[in-house]
Amino acid sequence: MELIEGMLSRRTTNGAFKPDPVAREHQHLLMRVAQAAPSHFNSQPWRFVLIEDRATIEQIARISGESMTELIDAGIFFERYRRYFRFTPQEMDERRDGIHIDHLPGPLKPFTRQVFSDAGIKLMRQLGVPRKLGEDNRKLVAGSPLLLAALLDRTEYRPGELSGFYSVFGLGAAVENIWNAVGALGMGIQFVSTPMELPRQWQAIRDLLRVPDDLELMAVYRLGYLPEGEKRPSIDWSSRHRKRLEQFVSRETCDVPEREGTETEEPERA
Ligand SMILES: Cc1cc2nc3c(=O)[nH]c(=O)nc-3n(C[C@H](O)[C@H](O)[C@H](O)COP(=O)(O)O)c2cc1C
Repeated sequence: MELIEGMLSRRTTNGAFKPDPVAREHQHLLMRVAQAAPSHFNSQPWRFVLIEDRATIEQIARISGESMTELIDAGIFFERYRRYFRFTPQEMDERRDGIHIDHLPGPLKPFTRQVFSDAGIKLMRQLGVPRKLGEDNRKLVAGSPLLLAALLDRTEYRPGELSGFYSVFGLGAAVENIWNAVGALGMGIQFVSTPMELPRQWQAIRDLLRVPDDLELMAVYRLGYLPEGEKRPSIDWSSRHRKRLEQFVSRETCDVPEREGTETEEPERA
């Protein structure tokens, strides 16, 4: 039951971590749970880099912050991801997916719904929001005691082939195990994703980590222990909602939605 409860309470950490280093024992435990994941033919195509070096973390933080500023300033972020944003609890309740932007800086609050329109982006620029968000992001990454790079072996990861899909699937399972385990260790985890959006910035991280030709850098995460009183970042969201059963599960065929609360039918006894 503890395992199931842990999985049901798994979440992404948007806020800061304690500056304390992550115990080596915990780092290795996370690597053990990662490799407990299933993989095609037990190929274990995943590779990980544990990053604690301050200079490397500061560099990745700078790249991440700059990427955030650029993505917001150019409107790229909102153009790409607008469809996931929800602005009211009612909207969230109805769709039960996406992220609810429920925390905005004071001057932007009256414009919640417009923030992601073209006019809103102009206003954000005037208020210096892209720079502020970039700086917030840089600080969050720089203040993380541990970064984790997730890579795939390119002899397995061949995009377009089934083994490419299998490799991504396996890495997803490995990362999910880490994501589930951090909660039990009093830790949190978040994607450092903005550099992935800009090929030159992603290349800069590849160079920093000296990724060889036979590996593909797939993702970077920040990790650390969770502080007691969590302060929220200036623009923040919540995404605890999940779809109702009938919105994502069907029975026997794709066209019969599964209903909530139906009892398991007792098999007929002879
Ligand atoms: C493939 C993938 C990409 C994601 N990218 C980001 C990201 O760029 N930044 C971020 O903070 N969270 C990212 N997340 C986390 C999701 O936003 C999060 O899982 C979702 O909103 C549900 O929230 P929860 O994890 O707290 O339950 C990503 C998750 C997945 C699986």
